[in-house]
Amino acid sequence: MTKSLTIRRPDDWHLHLRDGDMLRAVLPHTAAHFARAIIMPNLVPPVVTGAQAAAYRDRIMAALPRDADFTPLMTLYLTEDTDPADVAAAHAAGLIHAVKLYPAGATTNSASGVANFDNVSKTLAKMAEIGLPLCTHGEVTDPSVDIFDREAVFIDRVLDPIRRSHPDLRVVMEHITTSDAVDYVKSSTANLAATITTHHLVINRNHILAGGIKPHYYCLPVAKRESHRLALRAAATSGDARFFLGTDSAPHTDANKLLPCGCAGCFTATNTMSILAEVFEQDGALDQLEAFTSLNGPGYYGLPVNDATLTLTRQAPSYPPHIDTPDGPVTVFDPDMPLNWSVA
Ligand code: DOR
Ligand code: ZN
Repeated sequence: MTKSLTIRRPDDWHLHLRDGDMLRAVLPHTAAHFARAIIMPNLVPPVVTGAQAAAYRDRIMAALPRDADFTPLMTLYLTEDTDPADVAAAHAAGLIHAVKLYPAGATTNSASGVANFDNVSKTLAKMAEIGLPLCTHGEVTDPSVDIFDREAVFIDRVLDPIRRSHPDLRVVMEHITTSDAVDYVKSSTANLAATITTHHLVINRNHILAGGIKPHYYCLPVAKRESHRLALRAAATSGDARFFLGTDSAPHTDANKLLPCGCAGCFTATNTMSILAEVFEQDGALDQLEAFTSLNGPGYYGLPVNDATLTLTRQAPSYPPHIDTPDGPVTVFDPDMPLNWSVA
């Protein structure tokens, strides 16, 4: 029985760090295990310009623990007023690594997102030209579409038309939750990859709704039925280079999660590596963990893999049920299963 596993240091290709006190509280949890992360720009107000991304990067660097070895990979929040020249300049300066598309109203702080996709065509054309990836929150916002169908409908109505108009555009489908998305990625011949979260490998919609409502399992896109979770597990553990980890770790205080209209997001930065080791071992795929967490992402983003390593040992970890922040406690995602791997 494998007792210890050493892999290249992982990266998180989709992370919410927030700002201010929350940033200072959550960043050490990511920096403890991850070398780099793609930083989501959905602050209030959002990170829209290169100058805003540079200032946010500086705030993240200032919030890092002294001994940390962590590089934030910045992104811009796409709006209908985004200036393609500003995007290109921020990319050329090495400041940004992706642009994030939020359909307006799809999720937390997405009000400034895109309502009319024709209005971002010039920016997408520029991104295709310079090879800058587009990260998509893949859900339609049409209220007549069932929330469990919004990802599949987004692929048909929004994503596929965008990719046909801009075949050279490199796209990352973020936090995929359906077999439809897995199949769409697999059917592509180029310029398409997907991130998968830790929690979507573990929970299905029963975890949210059966036996009482569990707000801490509510995120967007919402977890789907079991067959979809199994498709995600198969994709993540397959070694297919088009699938890699993006935790979507999204801290909200308990006070904001436990409202009559609670916030979407699971906070997984703290225990993700232990959970993933468990998931991959359950599926007989521990040998593919490194590809998912440490190799496939840099491959798609055209970055070197990390030189440093991370070692997991077979030992039950102990994680706090929540972390303290000046704004109140943030609950750490409960995988609802025993964990057997600790980060050494
Ligand atoms: O669950 C989510 N939380 N999904 C998102 O798309 C946004 C995120 C957040 O920022 O809280
Ligand atoms: Zn997210």
